[in-house]
Amino acid sequence: MDTATQARTPALTSRLPQVGTTIFTVMSALAAEVGAVNLGQGFPDFDCDPELVNAVTRAMQAGHNQYPPMPGVPALRQAMAAKMQSLYGLRCDPNTEITVTAGATQAILTAILAVVHPGDEVIVLEPCYDSYVPNIELAGGKVVRVPLVPGTFRPDFDAIAAAITPRTRALMINSPHNPSGQVWSAEDMQRLDELLAPTDVLLISDEVYEHMVYDGQQHLSAARFPGLAARAFIVSSFGKTYHVTGWKVGTVVAPAPLTAEFRKVHQFNVFTVNTPMQHALAAYMADPAPYLQLSDFYQRKRDLFREGLAQTRFRLLPGQGTYFQCVGIENLAVAERDLPEGEFCQWLTREIGVAAIPLSAFYGNGFDQKVVRFCFAKKDETLKAALDRLARL
Ligand SMILES: Cc1ncc(COP(=O)(O)O)c(C=O)c1O
Repeated sequence: MDTATQARTPALTSRLPQVGTTIFTVMSALAAEVGAVNLGQGFPDFDCDPELVNAVTRAMQAGHNQYPPMPGVPALRQAMAAKMQSLYGLRCDPNTEITVTAGATQAILTAILAVVHPGDEVIVLEPCYDSYVPNIELAGGKVVRVPLVPGTFRPDFDAIAAAITPRTRALMINSPHNPSGQVWSAEDMQRLDELLAPTDVLLISDEVYEHMVYDGQQHLSAARFPGLAARAFIVSSFGKTYHVTGWKVGTVVAPAPLTAEFRKVHQFNVFTVNTPMQHALAAYMADPAPYLQLSDFYQRKRDLFREGLAQTRFRLLPGQGTYFQCVGIENLAVAERDLPEGEFCQWLTREIGVAAIPLSAFYGNGFDQKVVRFCFAKKDETLKAALDRLARL
């Protein structure tokens, strides 16, 4: 920038001093720079159903190019309501209880801004998705971190109960879970229901991987539990479900009083989400097969990837859902296994040609347990190319 005119940019005090560029962006950039197979950031390297793209084109040609209603295109909200009822048994009113958002990321931020007052406590279960903590901080909330049990990543209900205080405004959960791939059981959800029942704690249930659950298990949405649904913002993402992470379209389902507050923030944040994609998604949802078949589609990739990893020295952790697989690095036959996870991932990307994400990136204190995360939402040939390289270790 030209400084000859003595123009001066005022100095800022950062509202998010701890935040840098996300690890996902850093690792994707490094993978591109060194030509590594990118199993780091969570996105498919294959295309979506061409029918979905055709549906967008048709929507644009039909003139759906201006602002839609603020809460979202009615047909899409109706399609979501029908899905919530048929899959999870939740009756919700598309007019007052469903809002279309610019992906799950905006949905979560908006829910937090809508309900968290300065000084309120919000419980997050670590490791957690990287936007949660900065979102709470932006709202002036106090982050209360409760670890999932190291090794199994199961919820520790005694620890969650101990963290709840009269100042607790909300608890954030995420099942199926990024990064661990763990899926909450019926017993987990029942215990959560019982724990929250006597409280006024709200639930933000991040369910973006709802259609990626393996080995015959079911996704236990908060929507299935009336006591939870009555206090929850249930967050979904079409990006994950339909292989279109770049479209950034999601939904929030919440009881009418919560949705009313949500929409107050939403209308002065994004106001509306792009129109032709919403029409296309509404039309595409008429056929439930694509989301009903998604678990089978990804289970085959998970199995291929796990079978390959089982031939290496990486230690396989359980993976029941999502498109992530975590592995321990402590048994590798290279000295770099002793590096901190983050440095190991840099080395793995540069020297071995496979990008991964360190689990320490999902903890506020950088907890290092010698575990890294791979994403298997990739073509079979991509996974095989990565496995060939990983077998060298
Ligand atoms: C747990 C979790 N929540 C939310 C998101 C964000 O979803 P979206 O792309 O719809 O904003 C992601 C994306 O990786 C995620 O893993």
